[in-house]
Amino acid sequence: MTAPDSLTDPESLRTRALDALTTARERTALLTSCVEDPELTAQHSPLMSPLVWDLAHIGNQEELWLLREVAGREAMRPEIDGLYDAFEHPRAARPSLPLLPPAEARQYAAEVRGRALDVLESAAFQGTRLTEAGFAFGMIAQHEQQHDETMLITHQLRKGPAALTAPDPAPAPLFTGPAEVLVPEGPFVMGTSTEPWALDNERPAHRRTVPAFFIDTTPVTNAAYQAFIEDGGYGDRRWWTPEGWDHIRAHDIEAPLFWRREGGQWLRRRFGVTEVVPPDEPVLHVCWYEADAYARWAGRRLPTEAEWEKAARHDPAADRSTRYPWGDADPTPEHANLGQRHLRPAPAGSYSAGESPLGVRQLIGDVWEWTSSDLLPYPGFVAFPYREYSEVFFGPEYKVLRGGSFAVDPVACRGTFRNWDYPIRRQIFSGFRTARDAAPGSS
Ligand code: AVJ
Ligand code: FE
Repeated sequence: MTAPDSLTDPESLRTRALDALTTARERTALLTSCVEDPELTAQHSPLMSPLVWDLAHIGNQEELWLLREVAGREAMRPEIDGLYDAFEHPRAARPSLPLLPPAEARQYAAEVRGRALDVLESAAFQGTRLTEAGFAFGMIAQHEQQHDETMLITHQLRKGPAALTAPDPAPAPLFTGPAEVLVPEGPFVMGTSTEPWALDNERPAHRRTVPAFFIDTTPVTNAAYQAFIEDGGYGDRRWWTPEGWDHIRAHDIEAPLFWRREGGQWLRRRFGVTEVVPPDEPVLHVCWYEADAYARWAGRRLPTEAEWEKAARHDPAADRSTRYPWGDADPTPEHANLGQRHLRPAPAGSYSAGESPLGVRQLIGDVWEWTSSDLLPYPGFVAFPYREYSEVFFGPEYKVLRGGSFAVDPVACRGTFRNWDYPIRRQIFSGFRTARDAAPGSS
């Protein structure tokens, strides 16, 4: 990988860390100031924490890693650590904990940040793995942005009128490309050993040989997904895995989350507003079982994680893996729908500047894409800096999602980034694209 200078020069990385931390805090402030304080302590869904928990947890993780681990400081408030340890209390139990009230949580996070910026100013970006290339600062900015996406999910689940608004994406020029492209067989480099802020599960870079396959050039749209519904897809056992079938039967699932049918058309609720489901937008809020069933109905399948990454990163002309589908440059608003700039995916076929060398679009941004793969370590994986970021989740219970959604900030989104969740989850900003095998020897 030929990394831009800004990814290798320590002073550029320091500026990058400051920008990333500042951007994250602006987003956190917006997500926690757009509703009244009682709404911050309320539980809007048993699937989610109260917003005030995320806020103090963000500060607590920052204190733990940047002040205690990097700078060797004493704990500011050791008595609260347990409250904000995600492994001590499940989300549904968090509202009944003696959490810091909103004003105190804000104050705590702000105090931690003030001290963390002092540490950042003088930290040596070398010497330990935690500080090398500013990793700990990048990790903490990503952590905050991940919780900013989580908080946006909580806002989506919240009842009542909209608290957040954003401009819609520009209307897409008609996409005239093919529906799928062939990715020829052959090896490519998966994962990374050089991206400075890549998290442990993205490492190390390693070769994978992938048989030839076809992959959709855009995510599956609402219109395509509606055809599956209208064809009786939710009532036809043939399309579902046994677990998926039992799950949708037991929970009366008949359409994506937040959809309802009224007067012969599908409506959805999106951040407090009910609207007609837009046909050309990527489908959102489907679980893995639904994505898998749709693909089988369409005579196709979900891509594996390796197929997804090869489609997103392999440049066949140069025979190397890039950071993003469009190359190594950081994402701009022309490349992808990221960072909560819009509170919805852009129409399928948008972002021509973000397409891959083979012409695959919207791999980055818009919707997280379910893959067929379980979350497993790469060969040579080493947990860093803590086992609870990834390692404790490895195994068959979690499916991998790739590419990021409109709710993810660029700092937490790249061609190697791995997300995961249970196959039943659909409050997340999840969609998918499909793939199929190609004849061996296809090129
Ligand atoms: C990687 C998105 C599954 O939100 O549970 C946040 C990220 N890890 N705090 C999650 C995370 C610790 C994680 N995901
Ligand atoms: Fe966290």
